Amino acid sequence: MSQLMGGKIVLDLVKPNRYRVHYHILLGKERIGEIELDHIAWRSGEAELKIDIFDTTMHCHGYGTDAILTLLEQAFVTMNLNRVYLRVRASNVKALHCYDKVGFKKEGRLHRLTEWNTEEEIFLMAIDKARFLKERHPWAV
Ligand SMILES: CC(C)(COP(=O)(O)OP(=O)(O)OC[C@H]1O[C@@H](n2cnc3c(N)ncnc32)[C@H](O)[C@@H]1OP(=O)(O)O)[C@@H](O)C(=O)NCCC(=O)NCCS
Repeated sequence: MSQLMGGKIVLDLVKPNRYRVHYHILLGKERIGEIELDHIAWRSGEAELKIDIFDTTMHCHGYGTDAILTLLEQAFVTMNLNRVYLRVRASNVKALHCYDKVGFKKEGRLHRLTEWNTEEEIFLMAIDKARFLKERHPWAV
């Protein structure tokens, strides 16, 4: 199926391949952002989530949370993956709050040099299938 229905948004599949599923985030007919599962490792059942809602006026309306939950449902229930992870700057409090809300947990931290030669902290966060199902479909586990 090429479209996934969220509560507020629709995810429209574009150019999937074996290692990546990429969706446009639609609000009505407007494309407000993109979300994807990248680096899909079928053997270990893992993938990396990336999301971008382009216009800041579209932030903080719950669209990010809805898009992530909709994609996680696809990842864990339809694609039968075991774990979805992501990387996020420690300074990105909006994204951190959103990921925390949907059940991602911090698993580690990295430091990397920015293009301006300053150091930034990155959190590695992840959610596994069991935790997602327990929180979203408690009657099924
Ligand atoms: C990160 C992103 C996907 C989140 O999507 P969104 O639609 O803005 O998120 P939501 O509205 O679902 O949730 C954001 C939450 O952060 C909260 N928030 C916003 N600013 C905050 C701040 N400064 N401190 C703490 N929480 C904050 C909001 O109140 C909301 O929580 P609530 O629903 O409990 O009130 C979106 O903001 C985005 O695309 N940003 C630019 C690209 C980006 O940073 N991508 C992630 C890279 S890892």
